[in-house]
Amino acid sequence: MSLLLVGTIVLTLLIGGSNSQLSATFYSTTCPNVTSIVSNVIQQALQSDTRIAASLLRLHFHDCFVDGCDGSILLDNSSTIVTEKDAGPNSNSVRGFGVVDNIKTAVENSCAGVVSCADILAIAAQVSVTLSGGPTWNALLGRRDSTTANLAGANTNLPSPFASLSNITAKFSAVGLDTTDLVALSGGHTFGRAKCSSFSSRLYNFSGTGSPDPTLNSTYLATLQQTCPQNGSSNTLTNFDPTTPDTFDSNYFSNLQNNNGLLQSDQELFSTSGASTISIVNSFSSNQTAFFQSFVTSMINMGNISPLTGTNGQIRSDCKKVNGS
Ligand code: HEM
Ligand SMILES: *[C@@H]1O[C@H](CO)[C@@H](O)[C@H](O)[C@H]1NC(C)=O
Ligand SMILES: *[C@@H]1O[C@H](CO)[C@@H](O)[C@H](O)[C@H]1NC(C)=O
Ligand SMILES: *[C@@H]1O[C@H](CO)[C@@H](O)[C@H](O)[C@H]1NC(C)=O
Ligand SMILES: *[C@@H]1O[C@H](CO)[C@@H](O)[C@H](O)[C@H]1NC(C)=O
Ligand SMILES: *[C@@H]1O[C@H](CO)[C@@H](O)[C@H](O)[C@H]1NC(C)=O
Ligand SMILES: *[C@@H]1O[C@H](CO)[C@@H](O)[C@H](O)[C@H]1NC(C)=O
Repeated sequence: MSLLLVGTIVLTLLIGGSNSQLSATFYSTTCPNVTSIVSNVIQQALQSDTRIAASLLRLHFHDCFVDGCDGSILLDNSSTIVTEKDAGPNSNSVRGFGVVDNIKTAVENSCAGVVSCADILAIAAQVSVTLSGGPTWNALLGRRDSTTANLAGANTNLPSPFASLSNITAKFSAVGLDTTDLVALSGGHTFGRAKCSSFSSRLYNFSGTGSPDPTLNSTYLATLQQTCPQNGSSNTLTNFDPTTPDTFDSNYFSNLQNNNGLLQSDQELFSTSGASTISIVNSFSSNQTAFFQSFVTSMINMGNISPLTGTNGQIRSDCKKVNGS
């Protein structure tokens, strides 16, 4: 081997940093069946809750953006924990905690004390996408669980649906994710639901103008106004993707091209003049394979955000609590 090659490998390992600590085979001897155990519980849950796959994908995202993918979002209030579940983007919105507990119980029954709650969220996200018609991949594993939560971090780091594209891009950049990651991962809004409160300002009084968001398709605007009347319940739910609400496909991107993005943050990817995101939306809309490939790469990138590994953190026995508390 040439010195240059050795040097390159060493440099790659150094730059790889925390990323290289996770591995697709982390549980191959200690819990070889973990993915099928997780899959079985999710398939069961889907029987009575067609939304659960979307909800589980979102949990992994909201975990990873706050101090890394460390299971912190799962912790309830206790003497040492102020729960992230009360953060603005999470409160009365993130869901699926009961299914995560069922997964944890099933995993503990086969391999006690081995699989972290943070890894359960990563596996559940992958399985949820695959079961919904999306791509499949080997999630990288070996994360450990935090003993802390960060309510303020959840309020700061998670992007708002009312933010500008540059603001959202900055929040992704802050955790090492680029513009392609932003567009690919926003494709997660190809399934699941949102409450009227997450977008109704676009329907009546966009940014204080007293008028609807001019980028909204007028037919879609009328439909959304029916679903979310001005003085109606802010908790009414609507599908992100009106055409295939529970399927993981590239329709999200053709919806944006038709000005049928549900959230302001969705439509901005296509309607911000001059933005570098536009050509990526067009490419994912015309080529689902390209979207799926990028989505997998970006899910791995997101899953690599500062994991606890080695002897850091712990393997929680109950995802809701720090061990011994
Ligand atoms: C780009 C910035 C993002 C913003 C501003 C954003 C915002 C939101 C909002 C406001 C909702 C609806 C919440 C509610 O009304 O209760 C939502 C739902 C959802 N988000 Fe995002 N999100 C973003 C990125 C992502 C990413 C990166 C993923 C995953 C890869 C994701 C996956 C989901 C899913 C699947 C749902 C539906 C969940 C369900 O039905 O339970 N989002 N998001
Ligand atoms: C793994 O799980 C699947 C599905 O539940 C089951 O069919 C299989 O026998 C399991 N394999 C092992 C090694 O436990
Ligand atoms: C968690 O504790 C905080 C105070 O530390 C409190 O304001 C909040 O309501 C609690 N949340 C829940 C869900 O009990
Ligand atoms: C995004 O906007 C909010 C509110 O306008 C601001 O407080 C925050 O600092 C901005 N974040 C970034 C990363 O630009
Ligand atoms: C909604 O409520 C406001 C104030 O309560 C009222 O002025 C307005 O007319 C109502 N709008 C509709 C469409 O009912
Ligand atoms: C509005 O949406 C419909 C279908 O949902 C589409 O056919 C039409 O081209 C869209 N109009 C605009 C201006 O994007
Ligand atoms: C679609 O994207 C894939 C993956 O990037 C690429 O290999 C393929 O050539 C693309 N297909 C077309 C028709 O452009």
